[in-house]
Amino acid sequence: MLYQETKKYDLTGFRRGSEAGAPQSVAQSAFVKEFVQMTSNMYRLGWDERNGGNLSYLLKEEEVAQYLDPDCVIRKISLGFRVPELAGKFFLVTGTQKYFRNMESDPETNTGIIRISADGSEGELLWGFRDGGKPTSELPAHLMSHIARLSVDPDNRVVLHSHPTNILAMNFVHKLDEKAFTRTLWKMCTECIVVFPEGVGILPWMLCGTESIGEATAQKMKSFRVVIWGMHGVYGAGKTFDEAFGLVETVEKAAQIYMLTAHLQQINTIEDRQMRELAEFFGVKYRKDFLED
Ligand code: 13P
Ligand code: ZN
Repeated sequence: MLYQETKKYDLTGFRRGSEAGAPQSVAQSAFVKEFVQMTSNMYRLGWDERNGGNLSYLLKEEEVAQYLDPDCVIRKISLGFRVPELAGKFFLVTGTQKYFRNMESDPETNTGIIRISADGSEGELLWGFRDGGKPTSELPAHLMSHIARLSVDPDNRVVLHSHPTNILAMNFVHKLDEKAFTRTLWKMCTECIVVFPEGVGILPWMLCGTESIGEATAQKMKSFRVVIWGMHGVYGAGKTFDEAFGLVETVEKAAQIYMLTAHLQQINTIEDRQMRELAEFFGVKYRKDFLED
């Protein structure tokens, strides 16, 4: 077995020994760097005030094994729900009550790597949450969304939750109906229908941090990569950080245009036939039923 010699590592994720050359820290890994850069971008865009929002990244075992001994579990964290479909899978996740603005300067306190236990009921902490912290309270929605996205896209790795300003503002002034909301967004920027041709899923206001909202989100995630939580925020998913982030920033941009123009007299519009033309030209599979004749 490859990683029997746990002495090759220490608990902070530094690989020991001459064989490994200079110690490699988990915090220096490409996956942690990319992850915390993303949280910093989200923070700077004003999407993630305080601890608002959370992020999870499905890691490949081989990338984790470059930095950590998978046999060296720091502690076990009860999930409070079961996800046996994800048994043995590794996730880098943000911590609950951790501020986005602090992720980059101290990823080892503000984020952590967990492996889902064989029975799917625990997260086995392999790195991070140094102050005794725990994964985000939205872990049910994240893990259930990963299951849902993996069932339709085996390459999905990222799930993000955020509170982008304009998406949230639009929730208070626009009907929370998937067809109407999506069509309005599509009409705000020419390329929207190409970027999220499946539209956006919408949940009504629900109590957050619960299994119920997790299950409802996952149900939507089977057909949408963007799911709006009514009057709370948004979920985005993708194979890469670029895909998940790009989706949410495009929806946020469209919502911003809407909020800048909704109270003004509109004298030009992108017609439904033009959106159809775009979708056909770019060859995307779009929700035809979300357009009018
Ligand atoms: P956490 O701090 O538990 O990640 O919660 C933040 C949040 O946005 C809840 O929806
Ligand atoms: Zn939230």
